Amino acid sequence: MRHDIIEKNVGLMALLIVLVISGGFLVEVVPLFFLKETNEPVAGLEPLTPLQLEGRDIYIREGCHVCHTQQIRPFRAETERYGHYSVAGEFVYERPFLWGSKRTGPDLARVGGRYSDAWQRMHLFDPRSVVPESNMPAFPWLFENKVDHTGTAAKLTTMQTLGVPYTDEQIANAADQVQGKFEIEALVAYLQQLGTVISTKR
Ligand code: HEC
Repeated sequence: MRHDIIEKNVGLMALLIVLVISGGFLVEVVPLFFLKETNEPVAGLEPLTPLQLEGRDIYIREGCHVCHTQQIRPFRAETERYGHYSVAGEFVYERPFLWGSKRTGPDLARVGGRYSDAWQRMHLFDPRSVVPESNMPAFPWLFENKVDHTGTAAKLTTMQTLGVPYTDEQIANAADQVQGKFEIEALVAYLQQLGTVISTKR
């Protein structure tokens, strides 16, 4: 049987496995690089403001993405709870993606506007003060630390290089917009815009 030849020859089997996987990649993944709906931003999508961008970096630094996903799957149980499922065009300016894979807490893809700024601040200062059964950690230092504005312009420049349409004027003004702000202001500004480009009606 010719099949025996493959089963008894690890090198040949590995080669054939690689061929099959590359074929799958070519058919399933490569077309996505050229499809309009996976490459074009959804209508109304704007790059993050300098303050929101700094907030995003604080979100990454504090590991929020380790407990929270930002990706609503197209299942009824998810859309009823979180709102419209996530679409590729919402993430065109995201570098790196924060989709995550672990939901210790709820998905945050559309949390923008769901709570007031005051609620968000109280929740981050002491989660148990607003959600008694919460096991989310508190982040009180965000209320003491000022945003480091010295790197903000460079961050926008990097994003511009990666294709995010920041203007040179926005980059020139970036540091001024975050100087003197507390980290909590940046983080809440970031949270409040999450997923708001697409209707959040549930
Ligand atoms: C150890 C896991 C963990 C980490 C880390 C964590 N959270 Fe949470 N988060 C939770 C849990 C659990 C809940 C649900 C209970 C609650 O509302 O407090 C929650 C709830 C939330 C909610 C309310 C969501 C909703 O729809 O009701 C927001 C907003 C939030 N977290 C933001 C953050 C941010 C921002 C950070 C990082 C600074 C963070 N979380 C870090 C576990 C975590």
